[in-house]
Amino acid sequence: MCGIVGAVAQRNVVPILLEGLQRLEYRGYDSAGLVVIQDGQLQRERSTGRVADLRLKTTGTHGTLGIAHTRWATHGVPSERNAHPHLSNNLIGVVHNGIIENYESLRTRLSAAGYVFTSDTDTEVIVHLIHSHYKNGASLLDATRTSLTELIGAYALGVIAVDNPDQLICARRGSPLLMGVGVGEHFIASDVSALLPVTNRVIYLEEGDVAEIERQSYRIFNASGAEVTRPVQVSKISNESVSLGTYRHYMQKEIHEQPQAIADTLESVCNSTSIIPGIFGAEAAASFDAVNSILILACGTSYHAGLVARYWLEEIAGIPCTVEIASEYRYRTSVPNPKALVVVLSQSGETADTQAALNHAMALGHVHTLAICNVAESALVRLAKLRFLTRAGPEIGVASTKAFTTQLVALFLLTLVLAKQRGRLTEAQERQHLNDLRHLPAATQKVLDLEPKIAKLAEQFATKQHALFLGRGMHYPIALEGALKLKEISYIHAEAYPAGELKHGPLALVDKDMPVISVAPNDVLLEKLKSNLHEVRARGGELFVFADANTHIRSEDGVHIMQMPEHAGYLSPILHTLPLQLLAYYVALQKGTDVDKPRNLAKSVTVE
Ligand code: AGP
Repeated sequence: MCGIVGAVAQRNVVPILLEGLQRLEYRGYDSAGLVVIQDGQLQRERSTGRVADLRLKTTGTHGTLGIAHTRWATHGVPSERNAHPHLSNNLIGVVHNGIIENYESLRTRLSAAGYVFTSDTDTEVIVHLIHSHYKNGASLLDATRTSLTELIGAYALGVIAVDNPDQLICARRGSPLLMGVGVGEHFIASDVSALLPVTNRVIYLEEGDVAEIERQSYRIFNASGAEVTRPVQVSKISNESVSLGTYRHYMQKEIHEQPQAIADTLESVCNSTSIIPGIFGAEAAASFDAVNSILILACGTSYHAGLVARYWLEEIAGIPCTVEIASEYRYRTSVPNPKALVVVLSQSGETADTQAALNHAMALGHVHTLAICNVAESALVRLAKLRFLTRAGPEIGVASTKAFTTQLVALFLLTLVLAKQRGRLTEAQERQHLNDLRHLPAATQKVLDLEPKIAKLAEQFATKQHALFLGRGMHYPIALEGALKLKEISYIHAEAYPAGELKHGPLALVDKDMPVISVAPNDVLLEKLKSNLHEVRARGGELFVFADANTHIRSEDGVHIMQMPEHAGYLSPILHTLPLQLLAYYVALQKGTDVDKPRNLAKSVTVE
């Protein structure tokens, strides 16, 4: 989703802005632009397409104060005229992330006041609004603050004025924004990765904060207008962790980082023989004692993690669990159970629908809330009472991989804690589960070693238009996840079904052109699954089966078996995810798609 970078320095900031935008590319965008003050004028360049195109356009551009933006179209098509920054009367420049809900009434009012709109965006109302106050003598800070009181919606903003060449104003509400602290220079960005070449000292702005930033100083005001001090934190994210290294794509790198990401996520239990609620926060034990059910809210891949957890929570911990898509829950009239533990799952912690769902749950009276998230400083982590941070490290590829498997690890830990608290776990079982968890990094590495074979298998998908994924039980959500991965990066239409549902409809689709990919763990449902696979084969469908050892499913004409190294019991969904990630990746390579930045998609969906 849109990305913002801004800088006020003693040196030319254009290379800093461009590098920052390039590092935010993973968020998804369709156009890019920047504005600097050059020779006493606002010098703006914009382009549709890649940041590389903008770089070509800005070879002669320079300035010591500037703001830049990558846009993901919401209001108005992707085009140069709709790209940010937006200007008002060549005096004010603004970049904006978020959505202004009351932009139509503001646009009507500002047009009547003589402002001429040159784009179809909601953002343009902000720049004219600030101009309307600034031209009447307000400082840039006050003009921005007054304007914010008139906006309804979400925003992260960067604002500059041509006659104020030493000052950058920024603000956030509902969209992420942080400040970077340098020596004699300051920066703003949507996330820290954009600033790592210039500083790792950052200030995470809070909801409603507005900041006035100069080269040597800055002032931050909270939502009530009071000047506040926010801590300067040294980001743990290293430049190396966001660089591609020798990998061809971030997705490939992140798939291969899973053994380490899982080991890091397990750090809190790595040396223990028992598991304690405290890993979810100081108040976790009391909350877990008080709850009688679980409500999981999430979107996309994170939702699939929730679906797997439902099987674990009900079977191992014996606690009722429902899992809802956040964007549905937030608008549905549901019956709240204040004794439910509301668990929000999110890689980014900034997904607008998941945030809104948590707010909705809290408004309904839910007090027991837990965020399982990969970004420590995110809105969701701040909002929930309890938290567990997955330690996947920055995930850059739009297709979520290591965030998913580490979420599953976190959810399994939650299951064990709740099972133990409910007296459903003997000491021996607890030790065994912990041992199984500790074995996971090694087990996932063995699965990743199948990469060359999966790459070969993927060649057979190069000409396919559709694919069907099958799974049963706790592997059904893995089939859903496999289908999501394939469709989002290879653009092959993919559906997932619980294998038992085949004969209730989807079997009609099966013919020689429809590859059927099945997850076949060696569990209690194996024989049922085998019957389902026979149903496919009998209709001429070509089968691609990821089978555990001793499943006795044999390769034959039209049946391709990929043997998994070992069966991991309850943790099997984690292992079975990996080959499906690799399959999607290699099929996308066959198709020649933009793997890390698939069309129309954004990494963090910070708007509704
Ligand atoms: C996954 O590959 C997706 N790109 C997407 O479904 C993602 O999982 C979803 O948007 C939720 O994001 P979050 O985990 O950051 O909340």
